[in-house]
Amino acid sequence: MANTGTDVGLAAQHLRGGKLVGIPTETVYGLAANALDELAVARIFEAKKRPAFDPLIVHIDDFAEVEKYCDRVPDLAYRLAERFCPGPLTFILPKNHRIPDLVSSGHPTVGIRVPNHPLSLALLRQLHFPLAAPSANPFGYVSPTTAQHVTNQLGEAVAYVLDGGPCAVGLESTIIDLSSPTPKVLRLGGLSMEALETALGQKLEIQRSSSNPKAPGMLLKHYAPRVRMLWEADAPALLPAKTACLRFSSPHPKLPLAQQWILSAEGSLAQAASRLFAALRDMDAAALDLILVERFPEQGLGLAINDRLSRAVQSGK
Ligand code: TXA
Ligand code: MG
Repeated sequence: MANTGTDVGLAAQHLRGGKLVGIPTETVYGLAANALDELAVARIFEAKKRPAFDPLIVHIDDFAEVEKYCDRVPDLAYRLAERFCPGPLTFILPKNHRIPDLVSSGHPTVGIRVPNHPLSLALLRQLHFPLAAPSANPFGYVSPTTAQHVTNQLGEAVAYVLDGGPCAVGLESTIIDLSSPTPKVLRLGGLSMEALETALGQKLEIQRSSSNPKAPGMLLKHYAPRVRMLWEADAPALLPAKTACLRFSSPHPKLPLAQQWILSAEGSLAQAASRLFAALRDMDAAALDLILVERFPEQGLGLAINDRLSRAVQSGK
């Protein structure tokens, strides 16, 4: 089983040796390796059983470093970075030769992000290379939001998990593509559309077609617990005895309270987001026959929550 702790020096040592380390971020835990070492990066794909066509995000501790790895960084990127870095925003930018093709899955672009977590920032400052890190879950499963989630599923593959406590945001970063003249959002995530659009002073296009080859992480079959999941609106008239529900702030009128996961009694979307993935894991472990899912308000982080839920619902068995 993997070693877990808060020893940044030990994590750095493993990474220098080409090993994999679980790292905390404000969004979800990452499965990190030296982004400039193709052999180490290959271990990430192997551990996650991730198809090679799905590119990785590269993590740096200061946005200014972007120039080491990217060509033609538009002014817009610096403007957004000033406002949101470190934070839950990933920038897709034209890459240079220093980023291995394996990291970008052969695309001429790379995803770059500055994670907002003190342990990972301290780790990155000790290293002379950036960290490639996808979410630390097997491909297609829910992302981890605690160190324990990482060891449960990938414990054999990682040399060490840096334990930074539960993730504050709980949803993966929002991805914005700045590699062509019109900025586009490729993935809804921990930074709301409203916040981005206010900072930019313009409406943003969202490109989230499931067949979008640019963001394979947006495949429909994703975030899938093993239990069948349906929207409440599609619930059958006769519910199986072991039916549970996942709700925002108020209980379902027809189900016993013990079978309800209510994410934020106080009605905070940020709190609901931070609890969502742990709840899905809990429910997955609870030997249920059916999970009914409430649609969240279509605003702020509610958009990204509904996006993840709809992928889980569509892929439910
Ligand atoms: O919050 C996050 O972004 C977390 C933490 C660990 O940083 N990472 C994460 O990585 O969610 P991952 O690999 O699970 O999802 C990253 C997604 C990929 O599935 C891919 O769709 C997209 O980012 N991506 C990465 N590089 C890209 C590129 N060059 N062009 C388009 N999409 C890209
Ligand atoms: Mg992922």
